[in-house]
Amino acid sequence: MSLATSSVRPGSDAAALPEGVSISAIKPSIGSYISGYRFDGESVPDAFRSAMRYQLHNRGLVIFEPGTVTAANFTSFAGFLGEFFDYAGPHTPRAPDNPDATVISAEKDAHLRNHVWHADGGFRADAPAFTALFGKHIPDSGGDTMFSNAAYVYESLDPLFAQYLDSLKVIQSPDATGHITDRYLDPEEAAQARLRMPPFELPLVRVHPESGRKWVAVNESYVCYIKGVSRVHSQNILGILFDMIKSPEATCRIEWKQGALAVWDNRVVQHRAIKDYTSNAERVLYRCTMSV
Ligand SMILES: [Fe+2]
Repeated sequence: MSLATSSVRPGSDAAALPEGVSISAIKPSIGSYISGYRFDGESVPDAFRSAMRYQLHNRGLVIFEPGTVTAANFTSFAGFLGEFFDYAGPHTPRAPDNPDATVISAEKDAHLRNHVWHADGGFRADAPAFTALFGKHIPDSGGDTMFSNAAYVYESLDPLFAQYLDSLKVIQSPDATGHITDRYLDPEEAAQARLRMPPFELPLVRVHPESGRKWVAVNESYVCYIKGVSRVHSQNILGILFDMIKSPEATCRIEWKQGALAVWDNRVVQHRAIKDYTSNAERVLYRCTMSV
């Protein structure tokens, strides 16, 4: 792959940054860390917005240090990325202190599928383009989040294999691994959810509208099968791709700190929670998602 497209851009970005703000790479394939910025709750300078967009489009994930934003204003900070995309489910209620955020809590773990690699809202063809996640309460140990850059995965493929994948379509469904079954416990509500969110078809490889990079648009949570090939053919190809998505080279693991903010390009970056914390641990994250 070309590292030029995925490294932190020096020079021009640095010139656009507010005084005291710095950007550093998390891993070669994914992620930037931004420190030294404090959101005043009102506005974000245009040049800094442009720098953040550049990082999101080209690095996939941006982590902001604790103190950058608050639980009440992180949605105002990240909201410039698009229109809020409202898809709160029965186990992701509205945040009491922020009407634009929903709550992802360990208390609901039995009904959440966030430990399986996924894109947020990937059960819909119009999944949100960006997610912002704020660390409200973090366990003393565990509860990290892993992220993977599926553009890096595509660029790591043998070119002939990549060309073949370009020709394929996949069928996605919210219940591919039990998203509806686990969330909607009332049979009638589950039936209505299935009517509301039927399976749909998408290209296996997609192109990012800003960076022009292709990415492997399959995730373990919502992809059922590759269209038009045998079941074994489909399972084996998906197995290769899922394995690459989970590889150390394509991923980073973020250890949460209370008050930290993660923002990612939800089209290209997949993620999963690591549920290694104790059963009584408090792990509460606030989320908002944006469409473009
Ligand atoms: Fe998620």
